[in-house]
This record gives sequence, structure tokens and C-alpha cells, in this order.
Amino acid sequence: MPSREDAVRDATRRLEAAGVPGARPEARRLLEALAGIGPAGLLSRPEAPLETDAAVAFEDAVARRARRVPLAYITGHQPFRGLDFRVGPATLIPRPDSETVVAAALDHLPAAAGRVVDLGPGTGCLLLSVLAERPALWGAGVDRSPDALAVARANADTLGLTDRAAFACGDWADALADGAADLVVCNPPYVADREWPDLMPEVRDHEPPGALLAGPDGLDAHRHLAATLPRLLAPGGVAVLELGAGQAEAARTLYGDQNLVVLECRRDLGDIERALVVARRAGAW
Ligand SMILES: C[S@@+](CC[C@H](N)C(=O)[O-])C[C@H]1O[C@@H](n2cnc3c(N)ncnc32)[C@H](O)[C@@H]1O
Repeated sequence: MPSREDAVRDATRRLEAAGVPGARPEARRLLEALAGIGPAGLLSRPEAPLETDAAVAFEDAVARRARRVPLAYITGHQPFRGLDFRVGPATLIPRPDSETVVAAALDHLPAAAGRVVDLGPGTGCLLLSVLAERPALWGAGVDRSPDALAVARANADTLGLTDRAAFACGDWADALADGAADLVVCNPPYVADREWPDLMPEVRDHEPPGALLAGPDGLDAHRHLAATLPRLLAPGGVAVLELGAGQAEAARTLYGDQNLVVLECRRDLGDIERALVVARRAGAW
């Protein structure tokens, strides 16, 4: 059996040959996850041989990663705002950029807020992060993917939030009552169709297109949401919407043209305008 260090070195070579960015850290993380070895295990006993079962699982994982399957789909987990989220092929993998949406939502949360709606929750990372940090709130997530909803429900269960989070299958807010939300969080699909061929293979070949693609200019979902929010938000309600790079100006216009006031467009850690915060204009509808 190869030693831990030999296994990581060999995997690094194979991942580099397959064009995987950050091949060595990825190989290390795969070994840690698949062989049940924490970072300390690799550092303190690099010469220890891999057990047979671990070696077989690691070999399979490296082969999948070399085919550009995202690391999170192989391990089945992705951290988000310090919480562990289960992921699967039906869900988008939560991105660090989306933590900006949660931060902006918590900062703009209306004082009397009780009800949060997540449109397109995927893993549930936005809604469940907000609920985990605000114990007085309860919320609902509506996604059109039943398989993604199963993952979101499992995450709510693991995080101990099932009594405050409900998930339903549907088309955006169609089934929700007028004024149903004090806070809306939403990371809609926003990739323009023509950008699809240029996406990283991890995204293009493995993440669900229905979670990503949004028409010729990437704004189809935002157009629908802009028209929906004035009805969905309660008086004083606020919505925080994730944007793609370069979409801020168009989105300000789209949402501003409805009965909504743009409060902020928050930048992410990469200095990209990422989270548009809008409020229902007084006297809307
Ligand atoms: C970009 S993903 C965001 C997932 C998750 N909120 C996150 O931030 O990781 C968009 C999500 O919206 C869902 N979605 C797309 N179109 C929808 C629609 N018409 N109605 C409801 N959900 C939709 C997709 O299934 C997907 O889960």
C-alpha cells in the first residue's frame, strides 16, 4: 500500500495533468475526506500506509476529480458561513460570493421581521444561514427542483432548523400570498446562454444548468423577480438578490423601474458588486 504522502503526490500529478487548479491542496482534501484523515494525520504521519479500503476510495475519488467532477460533489459537503451543507448533483454548490447576500440580509433585516422567503434555495444555504443566526425568524424556500429540495430539507434537519424552515416545489413566488415576506433572499440563475461554453468544466459539465442559465443576457430570472417582489414583500420588506459580475447597473434599472427602492449594492471579497438590496416602496401595489 502507498504511504499517505505517496498517495497525495501521485494524485497531485494526475490532477495537474487533467488541468485541475490547485491540484495538491485538492488531492490533500480528497485524502482527508475519503480516508478519514484530518490535516494533522497527513502532516504528523505522512509515511503511514493507506488502509486498503481508503486506498480504493481515494483512487476512485481522484479518477472522478480528474474528470473535473467538483470536489464538493465527491465529498458531498461544502462549508458556507461556518456551517456544513450537504450538496448533490441537483444543487448548485454554495459559493463564498453568496455569503455577501447573507451578510447584507442580516444587516438590512427589518426590525419587525418574522418571515423569510428564499426563492431558489438549492441546498438551502441562504435561508438556513439566516435562520441559524436569527432564532426569532422562520422561513420558506421555493425551488422548482424536487431533488434540490430533498437536499435542502436534509440540511435543515442536520442544522436543527426543521421547525423553522419549510420547503416547497414551485415556480418562484407564484404560489405565495401577497405580502408573504418580510425578507426575501435569492441567488437566481444569472449566466448568459452564450457564456456557457466558456465556463469551467466543473460548472459546465457537472452543475445543474437550470440553476445557472438565464437567457441571452443572463437577466431573465431577475426580470421575473423584479416584477414579482413588489407583490411578495410585506410593507417595510426588503429583498437581497445575488448578481453576476457586471450586472449591477442593469439590475439597478430593472428593480428601480418596479415599485422598489435600491438601498445598496454590496461588493463581495473580490470587489464585485454582488448583492443588490431593494425595499418595497411605500404605498406599492
Ligand atoms: C443559482 S442556484 C442558487 C442555489 C442556492 N440558493 C445558492 O445560493 O447556492 C438557483 C436555484 O434556483 C432554482 N430555480 C431556477 N429557476 C427557478 C424557478 N423558476 N422557480 C423556482 N426555483 C428556480 C434552481 O433550481 C436553483 O436551485
